Amino acid sequence: MRLEISFAALVASGAILAGCGGSDTTVETASTAETGVTTTAEAEPRVVNVYSARHYDSDRIIYERFTEETGIEINLVEANGDLLIERVRADGERSPADVIVTVDAARLHRAEQAGLFQPIEDQDILAMVPGELRDPEGYWLGFTARARVIAYSTERVDQASLTGYEALASEEWDNRLCMRSSDNAYNQSLLASRIIALGEDAAEEWANGIAANLAVPPSGGDTDQIRAIAAGTCDASFVNHYYYVRLANSDAPEDQAVANAVALYAPGQEYGGAHVNVSGVGIAAGAPNPEEAREFVRFLLSEEAQRVYAEVTNEIPARTGMTYDNPRVAEVANWYRDPVNLGELGDHTETAVRIFDRAEWP
Ligand code: FE2
Repeated sequence: MRLEISFAALVASGAILAGCGGSDTTVETASTAETGVTTTAEAEPRVVNVYSARHYDSDRIIYERFTEETGIEINLVEANGDLLIERVRADGERSPADVIVTVDAARLHRAEQAGLFQPIEDQDILAMVPGELRDPEGYWLGFTARARVIAYSTERVDQASLTGYEALASEEWDNRLCMRSSDNAYNQSLLASRIIALGEDAAEEWANGIAANLAVPPSGGDTDQIRAIAAGTCDASFVNHYYYVRLANSDAPEDQAVANAVALYAPGQEYGGAHVNVSGVGIAAGAPNPEEAREFVRFLLSEEAQRVYAEVTNEIPARTGMTYDNPRVAEVANWYRDPVNLGELGDHTETAVRIFDRAEWP
């Protein structure tokens, strides 16, 4: 990676980056020395400006390999997804962003609606991603998937009592649930999927039912919900699969103890399948380096990159038929998934937020 700057630094040096488009000589010289990449004095280094809301080791590994293999250097700008989108929108035509990488399909959908993406037209890139994991018009695509399913206590819950997401809203679960806050995008997308599956009224009833069954007020992230189940604070929650897999794959005895006390249940086809979401990428509408942006997107879908996502961050490769060394992820990848197109979730997120505001689910 050539250069890594925080969002604050980007704001401070916005003029430099905005004006550079990959040819700012001062920065190029410094980075060439730093990375040891040999280039002739006249050669214009190829760059791609990546705005990313993901801060994972997998991405650092993949970006380094991308530069090694293509010679294209990456300017990485990291910030929260909503901030990145807002920044690209505010910069308009002056934005140096080539690609935007973020989690959650609803957020990608919002960026698309704001006109921030250009369609990816290369059929060979699109064909690598199953239709439901990408925008129907190609404005963004998911490069990894995650399943948001039910984590439950193996001691206190009979697996047979788990019959889809709906079951947890019944009286049987009174005072037995832990949930992450409803302002979290993962829960909003889950509720959006319930709106699609059940209709708005039934989805609202469901959200109210879940809220009424909370054992404790929402707090913490998904891993905290899993730990709370293991600690006996509650019996079940909704979590993204990779938080559980990370604990289960951990060598730490305390993580092992938590993973042994909790299991994941994925609603099968008879209950509509597991709710999935993506980490996705779109090419900026005004990308100064569109060719490099396409190469970058293609690389995220390479077998090499897909393997890193599966092995390092326990995500499900968006491409089917990938091989990797992580049996727990392979198992998750085989679950039956809700076949809804993820672009559709974004159409219902605002309704989901309104429902959550009315429900007693803080
Ligand atoms: Fe996450």
